[in-house]
This record gives sequence, C-alpha cells and structure tokens, in this order.
Amino acid sequence: EPAHTEQASFRLPLPSGFFQRRNPFDPAAALMEQAGRGPVNKIEYAGKTTWLVTGHAEARAVLSDTRFSSDFRRLVARMDKLTDEQRAEFTSRKSTAGSFISMDPPEHTRYRKLLTGQFTVRRMRALEPRVEKIVDDHIDAMLAAGTSADLVPAFALPVPSLVICELLGVPYESREEFQETTATLLRLDVGFDEVMRQRTRLQEFMRGLITAKRAEPGEDLLSGLITDSDLTDDELVNIANLLLIAGHETTANMLALGTFALLEHPDELAALRRDPGLADRAVEELLRHLSIIHAGPTRTATEDIEVGGTRIPAGSAVMVCVPTANRDEGHWPDPDVLDLSRERGPHLAFGHGVHQCLGQQLARVEMTIGFTRLLARLPGLRLDTAASAVPLRTDMGIYGVHSLPVAWDAR
Ligand code: HEM
Repeated sequence: EPAHTEQASFRLPLPSGFFQRRNPFDPAAALMEQAGRGPVNKIEYAGKTTWLVTGHAEARAVLSDTRFSSDFRRLVARMDKLTDEQRAEFTSRKSTAGSFISMDPPEHTRYRKLLTGQFTVRRMRALEPRVEKIVDDHIDAMLAAGTSADLVPAFALPVPSLVICELLGVPYESREEFQETTATLLRLDVGFDEVMRQRTRLQEFMRGLITAKRAEPGEDLLSGLITDSDLTDDELVNIANLLLIAGHETTANMLALGTFALLEHPDELAALRRDPGLADRAVEELLRHLSIIHAGPTRTATEDIEVGGTRIPAGSAVMVCVPTANRDEGHWPDPDVLDLSRERGPHLAFGHGVHQCLGQQLARVEMTIGFTRLLARLPGLRLDTAASAVPLRTDMGIYGVHSLPVAWDAR
C-alpha cells in the first residue's frame, strides 16, 4: 500500500482527473471545466457529494467564514477508508493536541496568537542571512560537483528543510537524523505502517528536543514558545511537526516548479535576470500561476450557507479550488499568462482568513533569495532534459516536480 493512500484518505473523493494538470503549469482541464460551469458546483463521485468552489470571490467568502469548519474530527468522521483503530489513532488527544490548522476559533485563535507572537519581524530578519548562507552553500556544492544536477535533491528539498531546522532550533548534530526521517515521510513508496513508524520517530525526536530546550532555552522559536506559554509537550511536539510539514514540502515544490516555469518562459526569465528587483513580484506571480495546492483547503459546512447564490447544506464537504480561483478571469486580466511584472494582487496560494499561511513571510524570503541566487550564480541555467520528460507530482496533494535535471555553463 503506497504512502499516498494515507494522504488520499484525507482528501475528499474526487475524480483523479482533477489532479492531472493540462501541462506542467496550468490547472487540470477537469478543474477548468468545473470553473467554466460556475463558481460553486456540486460534484457527485464515488457515492459522495463534494461542493467545489472554483471562483475567486466565492473561495474568499468560504475561507473567511468560520462556519466552514476546519475541525479535523469532522473530516475524519467522513473518511470511510480508515479502520476504527486508525480513526482512533488520528483523532487521539495525543496526536491532535496543538495541531491548530485543524481547529476552529476560539481554540484555533489561542494557538495562532501564541505562534504569531513567535513569528516576529525580528526573528524573521535574523533568519534572512541564515537563508542566504544555506542557499549559497547548496549552490557552492552544485558548482563543485560539475555543470549539471537534479535541482530537487540538490537544492529545492534540503534548503527549506534546513531553514525549518534553523527556525525550530534543531541542533546541528541532529540534522542528519531529522532529515532522514522527513525524507522518508516525503517518499511515495512507503506503506501506511512505515509512515506511522516514521511519524512516531519524528514525534520522539521532537519530544527529546523539547526536553533539551526546557532545560536550556535558546533564541529559536521552540524555546520562545516554551518560555512564553504553558503549552504541554504533546502540544509542542505537534506544533513543531505542523511547522515542519506545512513549511517543508510546499516551499520545496515552489522552488523546483518555479524554476521549471522560469526556464520554460524565456522572456520572463530574461526580464528577471536583467532586473533582480523584479524578484518580489515574480514570487507572487509564480505563487498565483502555479498554485501548488492541487485542490483545497477543505472545510465542512456547519450550517446551511449561501455562497455565490448557491445554498450549501449543513454537513457538506466543501473544497476550495485554489488553482482555478487564482485563474479566475473575473478577477485577473489574462489569468493564464505568466507575467512577472503583474500588479501584486490577493492570490489565494497562501489561503485566506484565520488559517492564512503562518509561514508566508518566511516562504517569500526563501523563494526570493532562492530564485535570485540560482539565476545569479549558475550562468546559463537551463533544463537538462526535454520539458515533457520532467516527472510531475500529479499523484500528490502538493503539486510540483519529482525531479528537475538542470545544467549550467562551466566557468
Ligand atoms: C497554512 C500554503 C509555506 C506554515 C497554509 C495554508 C495554505 C498554505 C494554503 C492554509 C490552509 C488552510 O486554510 O486550511 C503554503 C505555501 C507555502 C507555505 C504555498 C510555500 C510556498 C509555509 C511555511 C511554513 C508554513 C514555510 C512554516 C514556517 C503554515 C501553518 C499553517 C499554514 C502553520 C496553518 C495556519 C493556521 O491554521 O492558522 N499554508 N504554505 N507554511 N502554513 Fe503554509
């Protein structure tokens, strides 16, 4: 049983065509068809009903209305693929304590405030030179090894992983173990039991780290949380893992897929090379254009609620479709064009409302520095294979590429 079955069981039942992109960069044809039908559509599939929200205004309306619940227990209650034991394991206090991405206000609010108190401007500024160093170290290693590399293992995966280590204060000596565990969790070909085993290993690792930090706090975010709050170890463990998982694969895939998109749009690439000052806008446009969350975030309607003139009944599964909302022609002129100089607008790549991405500033810093340095330091950076040969992550909740062979000029 492949690991993504576990992920798939978290997803709402939707035809797999919804995850098959038309080409590397555009939303699935099936999703665009849905968007063409209307901003809110009822989908019947595999005996279940899902409300798909494709329009930009409607997506924002759902995400800013907490009557559309994020409560994990409501989601698990709808999963019929799980055994009772698995269900119990997923919803146990121990495994859900502190995991605020799956909570509603006021429970969510309490954790979110504690966390925003730690994501300070000061801490994010202090991280910037560390991000630069991590990015440059990986480019140095690529240059030292020759004139070609697979950008995913050489750069896109390790950079965000090390940045999260830095944020959480994972000591240098433990990084290898930590990276090995997260690398296994990211793989597709490990079974459910292996995923649970690695998850437990990661939890135990975090628990050890938290014990160490309680004894000797540092400058990092975990130490800050320990000092400034009365969170339990279970809560701290799950918060640390949430940050790790939410911040790792997302940023990694934006780095790799974003580079792929730049290489396939030579005019835009040339503009960015000419004017690195364009990087901030480029990052926003890549986030909008690529929308790496295939479909989601998902919610459960807690009452009958009207969205865009359609009544969604209480208890319904609601899936916000970020890729189509970010291509809504009622909102963006020429939505299918990748235009790095586009006026910055409210795209939904980081979500919206109370759950809007907590790590978005950090992700922006990583992408801005990452793209800028790759282009500046790898002369003549290009794809080292046919674009059609790049393996796409159409099989995962987070879209991107499995590998990206690139080459550059010898110096
Ligand atoms: C939430 C996307 C990077 C931590 C979210 C949500 C989205 C998202 C769409 C909303 C989920 C929902 O409404 O249910 C992304 C993308 C990223 C990224 C596209 C990279 C390009 C990061 C990083 C971190 C992070 C680097 C941590 C350092 C979180 C957390 C939440 C979240 C903790 C939950 C917030 C809450 O529930 O209040 N992210 N994210 N993300 N993200 Fe990110």
